[in-house]
Amino acid sequence: MYRSHTNGELRIENANQEVTLAGWVQKSRDKGFMVWVDLRDRYGITQLIFDEDRTAKEILDKAKTLGREFVIQVKGTVIEREAKNKNIPTGEIEVLVKELIILNEANLPPFTIEDETDGGEDIRMKYRYLDIRRNPVKNNLIFRSKVAQEVRNYLSNQDFIEVETPYLIKSTPEGARDFVVPSRMNQGEFYALPQSPQTFKQLLMVGGMDKYFQIVKCFRDEDLRADRQPEFTQIDCELAFVDQEDILNIFEGMTRHLLQKVNNITIGDFPRMTYEHAMKTYGNDKPDIRFGMEFGELNSVAQQKEFKVFNDAELVVGIAVPGAANYTRKEIDKLIEWVKRPQVGALGMVYVKCNEDGTFKSSVDKFYNQEDLAAWAKATGAKAGDLICVLSGPANKTRAQLSALRMELAERLGLRKPTEFAPLWVVDFPLLEWDEESERFHAMHHPFTSPKPEDMPLLDTDPGKVRANAYDLVLNGNEIGGGSIRIHDKETQALMFKHLGFTPEEAKEQFGFLMNAFEYGAPPHGGLAFGLDRLVAILGGQETIRDFIAFPKNNSGRDVMINAPAEVTAEVLSDLNINVTIPKA
Ligand code: AMO
Repeated sequence: MYRSHTNGELRIENANQEVTLAGWVQKSRDKGFMVWVDLRDRYGITQLIFDEDRTAKEILDKAKTLGREFVIQVKGTVIEREAKNKNIPTGEIEVLVKELIILNEANLPPFTIEDETDGGEDIRMKYRYLDIRRNPVKNNLIFRSKVAQEVRNYLSNQDFIEVETPYLIKSTPEGARDFVVPSRMNQGEFYALPQSPQTFKQLLMVGGMDKYFQIVKCFRDEDLRADRQPEFTQIDCELAFVDQEDILNIFEGMTRHLLQKVNNITIGDFPRMTYEHAMKTYGNDKPDIRFGMEFGELNSVAQQKEFKVFNDAELVVGIAVPGAANYTRKEIDKLIEWVKRPQVGALGMVYVKCNEDGTFKSSVDKFYNQEDLAAWAKATGAKAGDLICVLSGPANKTRAQLSALRMELAERLGLRKPTEFAPLWVVDFPLLEWDEESERFHAMHHPFTSPKPEDMPLLDTDPGKVRANAYDLVLNGNEIGGGSIRIHDKETQALMFKHLGFTPEEAKEQFGFLMNAFEYGAPPHGGLAFGLDRLVAILGGQETIRDFIAFPKNNSGRDVMINAPAEVTAEVLSDLNINVTIPKA
């Protein structure tokens, strides 16, 4: 037996017990006649004491040789501590050591393995296994495990069956680039790693599984951000004989269950917002509704004056920034610089200070009088003490720019509180999205998403206006899940492929297996997938998913610990009959 207790377990009630402990040396203090060691494992820290009166000399001498991160086993007696440490659960006791075994020595770690570390991001990624010993990373992984466990509990109680789907497949239709894997047995041919199990879960519905879920890795070769990894995990779900309402209810229930079990927070019905409303009011299809700053459209009150910039714009739109009327000229100039950065791309920003005495001071006083500005304040909901920020230009672009400004200001004003949770459903997404580059429509969600029956006639006349039975679950300004009711009849599916610019032959070549399956009695079905990494990070009060993944990739898609991706040997390539002639950069 390596240990009788963990290092987080012993309390004053255990005094006088003989115990065996094992773990890592977090630190040791050598006073000559006495040595203290903090012994760490996943469960906590227990203080060990060796002293010349009560510990055999050879054991005390051995204790003096212990370095940081040595793995040891000790036997000893639990005793009450003289100087108690109220900060840790085991702080009332220590273990007087009688036997010490060094199980393994350790090199000096490249950074300190404590809550506050001196290690930078790169070095901690390179030695991720050491970083995982630190509480902040360790606790995130434990938190993730708890969320996944609660997901399984909830879905299993609702009669969902967990089914594994393959990783070596043919390209899936989620719209990012595929990671491909060459096949040795079928030379010149490639598997694709799934961007999601979309087609398989639909086939499981044809197979009669009725309620499926899977906590599953997905792979997408896309540019990385704080909320994106090339391999990430979905809670993937699909149900038969359901409509949109059923799905929203079940997964609203799951999210509520998680908030209750994991965060101890009770939340009522989730608001629902159409895509159109979200875009008009927040400039964004994943609005953070924890704070106001809703968009006020100003075309009707700002366009009949002499200000050419506004008169020429498709959209003039503003937000009221609470309590920001006292921003200095310099602070406002900085804000204007911020919206002009290429990442945001605004050409400029007009502002109005709503003074405490009810008057207004704007950067366009030349063109607008007090009455005009009062109308702006009304449209944006600005109160005395607020600052109105106004952008103008092409509608979609301007909304996106103002949305970026809204989020930035909310962040600066501390309005994005990590312990406050505001979920909502965004519904009625457009079915199709115009792609400037290829000059054709793409499926906004994926090509199996069903149009709203009442919008079907628009498919031929105004395809961009057709709404889909598609929905996203948004939490604190992040898309944590999305899905749709699927097309389950082959006529509608064929029509959809036609509108997406597939010839019947191309559709057959790519998705023939699914179309075929639909000929054998496909039930009406629908589903959704949550991004587990995102969900966990947000429930954990953060937004960077990397911190909740045991072995994440860096922003260049590299695992710097195992050094992947890497070249493979000539033999491997030759087995695959692949000739690589790309010169090394
Ligand atoms: P979608 O593409 O919206 O839908 O993905 C579902 C959820 O997965 C998360 N997500 C990601 N998380 C981390 N890194 C990424 N690169 C990444 N990409 C997506 C998001 C997103 O909401 N098959 C459909 C679901 C369905 O229709 O049932 C799908 O994959 O949180």
